[in-house]
Amino acid sequence: MMKSLAIIGSQWGDEGKGKITDLLSLKSDVVVRYQGGNNAGHTIIVEDKKVVLHLIPSGILHDHCASVIGHGVVFDPEAFEKEVEKVRASGITITPEKLKISGNCTVITMYNKLLDGQRESKGPVKIGTTGKGIGPAYEDKVSRKGIKLKDLLNYDILLEKLSANLMEKECLFKNLYDCQYPSAKEEAQRLFELGKIVEPFITDTFSFLDQCKKEDKKILFEGAQGILLDIDYGSYPFVTSSSTSFGGIYTGAGMPGGSVDEVLGITKAYTTRVGEGPFPTELFSELGESIQKKGNEFGATTGRKRRCGWLDLPLLKYAVKSSNLTSIALTKLDVLCDIEGLKICTKYKYEGREIDCAYPGIDLSKVEPILEDVTTFSDDFKSELSPAINTYIKRIEDALEIPVGILAYGPERSEIKFLKEFL
Ligand code: IMP
Repeated sequence: MMKSLAIIGSQWGDEGKGKITDLLSLKSDVVVRYQGGNNAGHTIIVEDKKVVLHLIPSGILHDHCASVIGHGVVFDPEAFEKEVEKVRASGITITPEKLKISGNCTVITMYNKLLDGQRESKGPVKIGTTGKGIGPAYEDKVSRKGIKLKDLLNYDILLEKLSANLMEKECLFKNLYDCQYPSAKEEAQRLFELGKIVEPFITDTFSFLDQCKKEDKKILFEGAQGILLDIDYGSYPFVTSSSTSFGGIYTGAGMPGGSVDEVLGITKAYTTRVGEGPFPTELFSELGESIQKKGNEFGATTGRKRRCGWLDLPLLKYAVKSSNLTSIALTKLDVLCDIEGLKICTKYKYEGREIDCAYPGIDLSKVEPILEDVTTFSDDFKSELSPAINTYIKRIEDALEIPVGILAYGPERSEIKFLKEFL
């Protein structure tokens, strides 16, 4: 019996993880976020109301479920305060029993947010970040200068750490970027006040998860972004700064005493990307625009238009291998219905040869996608699937060598077909 499940985006994020995580969290005892921060945006429709979660795990929507923010997450306490207010306003309760946050999360400071913005507007390479300070916060963590959430509870420690943290950044703010920034005292005061809001939720999440495992609880790991945005496996440097792939679970949350039973890769039936960076199957035609409109492809966090393109099997095969995916959920199939001239990328031409799977460090700006025609399909998804859509699904399963376990064909909770049982 499956007791633990990871849900991971298998493309560049925005695959529709929110709805599936929400549905499967109904069956879970615990839902865990382990990487990223409020750069994520999970849109979930609950009783005609749209709830967008950025930082809080989707389990919060269900009273029986505990939600955990593990230490691998970078945590913006101000964004948290606002999100809690919004979620509560839609009638959802948030209590320390329901939500547990590791005191060891790295805090996103105002300095991190400022640096992110300055680099994006003035730096030599624009990544197209969400501007939430994610990269600079992870830099602080890795360079051992990070402010931890537990530091917010002691003003003196916080001030001391922030003063040390500001020393180098001050040079950048003054001399390179010529921008205003708060003093260490001002920032310490702001974060100390916010710390009081977060304090009741701070928990030793490692031991909590260890106990859950001992009690045979069902644990769902909720990935944010997608494998192609992973700091190691992604299309570097156009990536986010965390381990969005499977490995991030072990370092960012801990899976005490065992492995994860099943890894579900959420896969949009076509490909989208926000921000900069190469995108082999991108459509620059009117067709791309009509998919963008039909699929309502706008970022949940930044509102930016998402770039659209055909499904890319060489990238998906790579995602399957790099995150041990055991099945996929194919989402937004309805958007591809009735599209004339539908195609799928099966291979790349790269450095004079044909390859059917990407690998770390491949220069995606130099690959030439080899496209196959796909018969146009149409379906209301109410009864048996049409033969043409079944052929599309089978083509994907054959290439990836794992089954399609879920089909999603609309934003509502009900617009989903389970072809396999989870949890
Ligand atoms: P950052 O995570 O804000 O540093 O942004 C780095 C890259 O990741 C940019 O290309 C963003 O557009 C992308 N990104 C970050 N979070 C998401 C997400 O939730 N969905 C899709 N793309 C994202």
